[in-house]
Amino acid sequence: MTETRLLQADPQGIDTAAALLRAGGLVAFPTETVYGLGADATDGRAVAGIYEAKGRPRFNPLIVHLPDVEAARAVGVLDDGAERLAAAFWPGPLTLVVPLRAGAGISPLVTAGLETVALRVPAHPVAQALLRAAGRPLAAPSANPSGKVSPTTAAHVLAGLNGRIAAVVDGGPCAVGLESTIVAAGAAPVLLRPGGLPSETVEACLGRPLALAGDLKGAVPSAPGQLASHYAPEAALRLNAAGARPGERLLGFGPGACDLNLSETGDLAEAAANLFHHLRLLDAGGTAPIAVAPVPDHGLGRAINDRLRRAAAPRD
Ligand code: TXA
Ligand code: MG
Repeated sequence: MTETRLLQADPQGIDTAAALLRAGGLVAFPTETVYGLGADATDGRAVAGIYEAKGRPRFNPLIVHLPDVEAARAVGVLDDGAERLAAAFWPGPLTLVVPLRAGAGISPLVTAGLETVALRVPAHPVAQALLRAAGRPLAAPSANPSGKVSPTTAAHVLAGLNGRIAAVVDGGPCAVGLESTIVAAGAAPVLLRPGGLPSETVEACLGRPLALAGDLKGAVPSAPGQLASHYAPEAALRLNAAGARPGERLLGFGPGACDLNLSETGDLAEAAANLFHHLRLLDAGGTAPIAVAPVPDHGLGRAINDRLRRAAAPRD
């Protein structure tokens, strides 16, 4: 394939990106969580290209991105709980898994044949402008080779996918830095993936606790993409480390000496925004193992710890 175009996030760049998408091309774009690799969700060939460019298993379905809740209702069936979450948190870092609406025109490759569909309305102004200019629902996984660390800058996207996709729109670094929180709607809503919206905030809105996907084996649709090893850097990771052992590098959290700090003040939002970039920096700095300081397991810390556990999991 030819070289990937780096487009500016100005009206001309957005127009070019939208035209590429309407023609079936793959275009990476910024959202407030991470960069997504977009394709027209109604074009099966374009969607197949996503799986190919990422080396992603076809059983792992994609999130459909839409400009607003009306557009989301045209693709999925939102029950009362889903409507309430959409009203509270869209646009934003929340993905809702709901029944697929019959005749919505979404390629079955997007849902990997499931009867449900994952919907997200991103808040990032560039994502919003692109969705409106393209005029199509956009299927978009994180814009990284499958199993690797998600991209939070256009440079990260090019590092993984240059030459494999038509273009990337450069919208600067992502403010949240972790993928969206995924909730399966229904009588008993389920947290399928912790992410950029703290699960406590979702629970407060619903007035009930979320079930955890792991607690309900087989009873609910799981997030098929939740493979144990994911978000993986090349270097080995040791979690909840009190300090670095000889030969290790320390990824810190809170005050104290370390090689890189997720947040010196112990701020979880700052740590989330830094996590993937810091893992990349440590990876670029060598192969010595990385010790990671403990991160509190509440709010955004739950999503940070989820990504760290997957990054540390044994590789195939
Ligand atoms: O923040 C994000 O969510 C980013 C940006 C680009 O929007 N996207 C993202 O996509 O993280 P991806 O493909 O890396 O993760 C999507 C997750 C996968 O774990 C997939 O299995 C799950 O969503 N998923 C998609 N459709 C589903 C469905 N119908 N039922 C259950 N899980 C689903
Ligand atoms: Mg991903």
